[in-house]
Amino acid sequence: MTAHLKMNERQPAILDDMAQGIIGTPTPRREGPLKVTGQAAYAAEVGDGTEAVGMLVRATIAKGRVTSINEAATLAMPGVLAIITDERMLRNPAQGGADKAPVQGPRDVAYFGQPIALVVAETFEQARHAAQNISVVYETSPDAITDLLDGDAPVERPAAKQIDQGDIENAMNDAAFSIDATYTTPSQNSAAMEPHASLAWWEGENVILHSSLQMLKFNRNELADSLGIDPGNVRVLAPYVGGGFGSKLGLAPEAVAAALAAKELGRPVRVVMTRPQVFETTMRRSATQQRLRLAANEQGELSAIGHDALVSNLPGESFSEPVALATHFLYAGKNRSYSHKIARLNLTCAGSMRAPGEAVGMLALENAMDELAHEAGIDPVELRLRNIPDVHPEDGKRFSSHSLAECLTTGAERFGWDKRNPTPGTVREGEWLIGIGMASAARGNILHEAKARVVLHSDATITVETDMTDIGTGTYTILAQIAGEMLGLSLDRIEVKLGDTDFPPAAGSGGSWGAGSTGSAVFLACQKLRSEIADLLGADQAELTIKDGSVISGNVHHELAQLLTRDLSAEGHIEPGSTSDEVEQATFGAHFAEVAVSAVTGETRVRRMLGVFSAGRILNMQTALSQCHGGMIFGIGSALTEELVHDVRDGHIVNHNLAEYHVPVNLDVPDIEAVFLEERDSWANPMQSKGVGELGISGAGAAITNAIFNATGVRVRDYPATLDKVLKDLPDI
Ligand code: MOS
Repeated sequence: MTAHLKMNERQPAILDDMAQGIIGTPTPRREGPLKVTGQAAYAAEVGDGTEAVGMLVRATIAKGRVTSINEAATLAMPGVLAIITDERMLRNPAQGGADKAPVQGPRDVAYFGQPIALVVAETFEQARHAAQNISVVYETSPDAITDLLDGDAPVERPAAKQIDQGDIENAMNDAAFSIDATYTTPSQNSAAMEPHASLAWWEGENVILHSSLQMLKFNRNELADSLGIDPGNVRVLAPYVGGGFGSKLGLAPEAVAAALAAKELGRPVRVVMTRPQVFETTMRRSATQQRLRLAANEQGELSAIGHDALVSNLPGESFSEPVALATHFLYAGKNRSYSHKIARLNLTCAGSMRAPGEAVGMLALENAMDELAHEAGIDPVELRLRNIPDVHPEDGKRFSSHSLAECLTTGAERFGWDKRNPTPGTVREGEWLIGIGMASAARGNILHEAKARVVLHSDATITVETDMTDIGTGTYTILAQIAGEMLGLSLDRIEVKLGDTDFPPAAGSGGSWGAGSTGSAVFLACQKLRSEIADLLGADQAELTIKDGSVISGNVHHELAQLLTRDLSAEGHIEPGSTSDEVEQATFGAHFAEVAVSAVTGETRVRRMLGVFSAGRILNMQTALSQCHGGMIFGIGSALTEELVHDVRDGHIVNHNLAEYHVPVNLDVPDIEAVFLEERDSWANPMQSKGVGELGISGAGAAITNAIFNATGVRVRDYPATLDKVLKDLPDI
């Protein structure tokens, strides 16, 4: 039985009438205890002990060719079993959602860190030792380009939306107030706690890959394509994932290498990336240069927005950090211009990292709005309130739901915004200059095709099966809540099985669409099962109350377990339809931050942060808030500390570890509060929920740099706002 829904029309608020009361309820992650007690086995930990161990050998030049590898000497080293140099390994990491990965030419090197071979040995230590000592001869090309801003890189205009509406030059000239400022953001790394790791083995013509990945139905196709085999011969497993943040949307090179080696050796092969390999050989977020132009009248009403971006990627890669995503719809203004260029650089592949586009695009946009507010002498919250569009400012589409104004006003009140002194550099506590700042948050909402199977067993227990992943976001728990709510059973009667391509293909974890898309597939399957139950009673589904294992029809109670004489199974299938095009769907929010900046060292300490968000129905208040907290903490990193430093001579990453690539740690993270406003979005999906995972980071860092300006009068336009950049412009004290 399949229940299929294509989202061509708005959906009624069915879950509002449910009896079980577990949708939305704060519920801890069910796999949490397994993870923290080490019982959830990660990809690097599975296996039966018969595995050989592979270690990637990676290029130490930015551009050129491998001319020879001294394989004989390496093969003679202790424990070494094989050296894999199959050209199928030389691909770039796959981009999320793509089925194919671009191939480098045979033995061509396009970036420092690119995999060129896999050394396989009996033990990890032997493989690492041999890989470190392997002798590779290169022919080095002198024309590697490693710097985004030095102007040497070949530049292309990608397919990203480029707009030229009205006349921005005129609007800038006629404006009462205008801002024309350029911001830069550095390359970043997702820095998930679990490194990329794969165990591969073959059963006849079939390969099984146990890995750490976000979107299995695509990953299966990527591996099939890489190996040149049919996707039907590939099974991918990823039941537990220790964070991804985009870096595991597509296959990283260790997966293909493990599969090739396992085939060649006729034995399972495990390949685990070291932390430096994760930094250099998976994905980075592109560095960006963004010019923002804003023009406004005396009242601060925008007449023009311009956003010109320069980003980078390897030659041939289609992904291009879409920095203007939120700029398109966030603020009104008749004259609009966006240009987007991509520089081809010999640096680690650039790809999606949490909120690709908004995460760095809103750093620039929301700083520029703060600059305009200061210039015009208008309160920054008020400036945003005056510029909320009634409809999409480019194409006139209406918004499916839009709570930005309420987020701004609620946030301002909760945070004590009215106590802000608008004159920078005027609030001081001893050594510390104190400031507060804010920024809007916005992120587009996406529905993705997904399937899931729900089995209602005759003993009134439920099994949910889908190839969806849980990357720490709460999928296991949320899917159980949806099934329990729909079928009136408590969470302890529900098993959720994820992370196996033998299950129905889901949406995967990406683009904040996971819970809404795969959750809707579970919802639809359960709806079908409810109608089956109704049929058993000869009743109408809408009149049933199903709660705590009993079904109430009319005034008669039935025990579900007695009613069911056999297992009932249904598959749910959701597909995006015209509601994705008819209306503009987005989530919104407002960030507020208070910082203290040392007048002596220029060091910034975030003192408190508040985020107020709206994202349709919240399916689990605890996991949703946790996503927001995580996003806001990511915002602290992007504002103050996170930066991949490339050595421009050969493009290698200088700070390729968590000691020197600084993500915020406990002492960097203050009291953080996140709040959701009540909202429903009937255009989004039958649960009326919207994506949450990437909203919290969007705009968060800008609230912090705007607070630094309020504290000090120093405007750092080159992220991150490290102490040296603040200190050099600090007024004498
Ligand atoms: Mo996300 S960057 O689509 O995991």
